[in-house]
Amino acid sequence: MLKKQSLFWNGSLPETNSIKPDMKISFAPPYIDQAVINEVMDTLNSGWITTGPKVAALEQQMKQLTASDAAVCVNSWTSGAILMLKWFGIKEGDEVIIPAYTYCATALSVMHCGATPVIVDVDDDCCISTEAVIKAITPKTKAIIAVDIAGWPCNYEELKAIINKPEIKKLFVAESPKQKILGRILLIADAAHSIGATINELPAAKYSDVSIFSFHAVKNITTAEGGCICINLPARFNSAEEYRYLKLYTLNGQTKDAFTKSNGGGWKYDILFMGLKINMPDICAAIGLGQLRNYEASLLPMRKHVASVYCDRFKSMDWFVEPPLKNEQRESSYHLFALRVKGISETQRDQIIESIMAEGIMANVHFTPLPMLTLFKDLGYKIAQYPSAYALYANEISLPIYPQLTGEQIDFIITTVINSVNTVLDECKELAKVEL
Ligand SMILES: Cc1ncc(COP(=O)(O)O)c(C=O)c1O
Repeated sequence: MLKKQSLFWNGSLPETNSIKPDMKISFAPPYIDQAVINEVMDTLNSGWITTGPKVAALEQQMKQLTASDAAVCVNSWTSGAILMLKWFGIKEGDEVIIPAYTYCATALSVMHCGATPVIVDVDDDCCISTEAVIKAITPKTKAIIAVDIAGWPCNYEELKAIINKPEIKKLFVAESPKQKILGRILLIADAAHSIGATINELPAAKYSDVSIFSFHAVKNITTAEGGCICINLPARFNSAEEYRYLKLYTLNGQTKDAFTKSNGGGWKYDILFMGLKINMPDICAAIGLGQLRNYEASLLPMRKHVASVYCDRFKSMDWFVEPPLKNEQRESSYHLFALRVKGISETQRDQIIESIMAEGIMANVHFTPLPMLTLFKDLGYKIAQYPSAYALYANEISLPIYPQLTGEQIDFIITTVINSVNTVLDECKELAKVEL
């Protein structure tokens, strides 16, 4: 049996030589400490469990953390993305450029609006290729969704420069009221993984028009299911008005929410337009609120610590490809530790994962590129046209990275991974010898 884990990193480095054969390590358990439990209990005891004061408090915290003009909580990243695409008037016949290397929701949000996802390849750091974006822009392009894979923010400065080029702006056909105000392609960050990521030491959300975060159960901050839209639109948009409009949109276009009605706001209301029903309940917001208060001071540094121990210990292995975590401009949110093993095939990667999992360590792969999934294959997308996305997928193994990991567990993961990779690589060498 494992010892009860301390929820707080005490700053000490992992102990070595303490491998336990019965160690079971989950991939991404939610962070539930007493602060989270207190926050949830407070909601349960308050007599109000759906959208109300906890959601308002979480929005305030998100606005601060991301230095955004407004933050709107929703019930998932996916619903938030559908909302923002609809808000911009995206419809059938429109195109939205997205990367091949992402989770299906990036594409599905576009398809749910009737528009076409134009899937392009990525660069070596998993970010959407800006060169490919330029080639993909047509008069039908209404938005770009760049994806911060593993928490590594994309090059939004370059993407903004592209969409602001006079010749690109000239191509843009503004149809909806919001498109007419913006006058160019909308830049959306799929920030599902990247809460706390920075560019030039500022929150990365400052560099796109819209950043959408996921609070799904495995994310750095979770509300079980949930998401948050943060807007940083040009000054010609009134962010307070957009906030009010988006809040209505999350609640059927209804002028008065249930909290206001039940607190003496009167029973009468109106429905102004065909909204969605995607509001976040307070009971969910409470979980995220309890975590977010500790995020920058403790939870995020603890993730960074795990990543730095992995890098320190793996760097002497000649097969280790260091994931993008920090450079002079950008810093990750350390959502995933995407280990890449130089030169291995998909089959070898799968063998390594099998061997790690047999030791009780849950690993994962992020992501199977969209063109490899049935839906997209059936639509005619071909993985051969996305060589970079395929190469990044073929040798990737996501390792556990979260604040609750103990030094002993981190050490066990590292030792197990090194043994598993070396065994598979040695077997390959042997096989090659036999074939010669
Ligand atoms: C890159 C990316 N985008 C979008 C999503 C969708 O998030 P949600 O489950 O909150 O809708 C995910 C979820 O895992 C994701 O990894």
